[in-house]
Amino acid sequence: MAKWSWVFLFPLMGACYCQYEPTWESIDSRPLPEWFDQAKFGIFIHWGVFSVPSYGSEWFWWYWQGQKIPSYLSFMAKNYPPGFTYQDFAPKFTAEFFNAKDWVDIFASSGAKYIVLTTKHHEGYTLWGSKYSWNWNAVDVGPKRDLVNEIATAVRKHSDLRLGLYHSLFEWFHPLFRADAENNFTTFSFPQKKTLPELYEIVNKYKPEVLWSDGDGDAPDQYWNSTGFLAWLYNESPVRDTIVTNDRWGRGSICTHGGYYTCADRYNPGHLLKHKWENCMTIDQRSWGYRRDAKFSDYLTIEQLITTLVETVSCGGNLLMNVGPTHDGRIIPIFEERLRQVGQWLKVNGEGIYNTTAWRAQNDSVTPGVWYTWKPQEKAVYAFLLSWPTEGYVILSEPLVLAQTQVVLLGYKPLKWVPMKPSGLQVYLPALSPVQMPCSWAWTIRLTGVS
Ligand SMILES: *[C@@H]1O[C@H](CO)[C@@H](O)[C@H](O)[C@H]1NC(C)=O
Ligand SMILES: *[C@@H]1O[C@H](CO)[C@@H](O)[C@H](O)[C@H]1NC(C)=O
Ligand SMILES: *[C@@H]1O[C@H](CO)[C@@H](O)[C@H](O)[C@H]1NC(C)=O
Ligand SMILES: *[C@@H]1O[C@H](CO)[C@@H](O)[C@H](O)[C@H]1NC(C)=O
Repeated sequence: MAKWSWVFLFPLMGACYCQYEPTWESIDSRPLPEWFDQAKFGIFIHWGVFSVPSYGSEWFWWYWQGQKIPSYLSFMAKNYPPGFTYQDFAPKFTAEFFNAKDWVDIFASSGAKYIVLTTKHHEGYTLWGSKYSWNWNAVDVGPKRDLVNEIATAVRKHSDLRLGLYHSLFEWFHPLFRADAENNFTTFSFPQKKTLPELYEIVNKYKPEVLWSDGDGDAPDQYWNSTGFLAWLYNESPVRDTIVTNDRWGRGSICTHGGYYTCADRYNPGHLLKHKWENCMTIDQRSWGYRRDAKFSDYLTIEQLITTLVETVSCGGNLLMNVGPTHDGRIIPIFEERLRQVGQWLKVNGEGIYNTTAWRAQNDSVTPGVWYTWKPQEKAVYAFLLSWPTEGYVILSEPLVLAQTQVVLLGYKPLKWVPMKPSGLQVYLPALSPVQMPCSWAWTIRLTGVS
């Protein structure tokens, strides 16, 4: 190449192609990076100063001092000295047992393909040493460690997992946010001095592949400059090719704009959506953060979790399953057990989950509790049976079988079947003893050579 051509190339190299404009029309036109739909299953982690009182919910501060809910007021009166503030919890956020590699091993053992960590919840405390959260971050007060960095580093060492970061736009009690809210969001001090600098900081520093935004504080996306930020994220950021975002970018954007849809917490519509979506839910049904007052019956059973995973994936969603670690950095054994159990199940049945797409039918119209997925490359239909049929057979009314159709129980072997009129088939299940069972909570029948 002639030397002079560099004169022309150099300015281009640093330039932005700026494919995306800061408008929803343009932002929404970006195709979702493929990896996300293939992954199907992720782990959500809610961790912060709220893990110290670990009472009620991660909304502890708001319920105590915002809403002044009597049970929270009396919890404080009984257990803490008068004048104790929420900030006084922060030094007790010690994380002395926290080992990022142990966590990542547990997450990977669940079969999850990504994690999403709360880097900052509505309390405003950042789990990284943010320049924009003076003395209210994990490096200055509490563990005195950059927790986001430790987790990001451990995730990157694990080839099966991708890093996702949760970030709350608003903060309940931040004076700048309160002042902007007083002005009906016609002033922009808080997003300009806090939210946006933090977002640029975590993207540039930790290079996440999911950015899970939350907490619009009832302010419109124009207040948050969401489309401006997303245009940067998609055009110029270091993760512009792989980053996936959700839909919580300002009042009214949920289920309408952004990347994939979350629509509501624990969203599980039971039917196919046209747009990629994610069901974010918790193993502890009543809280995202760890709470010591959880009852055994508050934890979803493994049968319930597998059912949710199957329903979600059959309807085109991803499942984001939440655990709340303790203030000292442990993932309690009941959460660990549930995650490892999902992983055990996925070892046998993951073929029908990962890299599949929603099929023509999501569930069977004759037999309840049967859900379907489809793998176009292999022309395979997967039918999940949420319970083991007591009659010794199951009727699958949706598949159109041919003479060459093959029917296999995953983790076992081919099964006998007969065609049904006008369509579908009757599949015979063997009488298996518990030790012969390929898995214990839901069973997958693979059909190939169907039309
Ligand atoms: C606040 O702003 C919205 C538009 O964002 C407007 O519809 C509303 O009337 C305003 N309210 C007040 C009290 O000014
Ligand atoms: C909004 O974001 C865009 C793109 O990052 C930026 O150029 C612009 O200055 C931002 N506006 C405000 C008011 O922060
Ligand atoms: C899913 O497909 C991707 C890309 O084709 C591939 O790299 C990955 O290994 C597949 N994952 C599984 C679990 O089959
Ligand atoms: C399963 O599909 C049928 C239609 O085929 C529908 O009426 C029914 O509500 C579905 N069941 C569940 C649990 O979603």
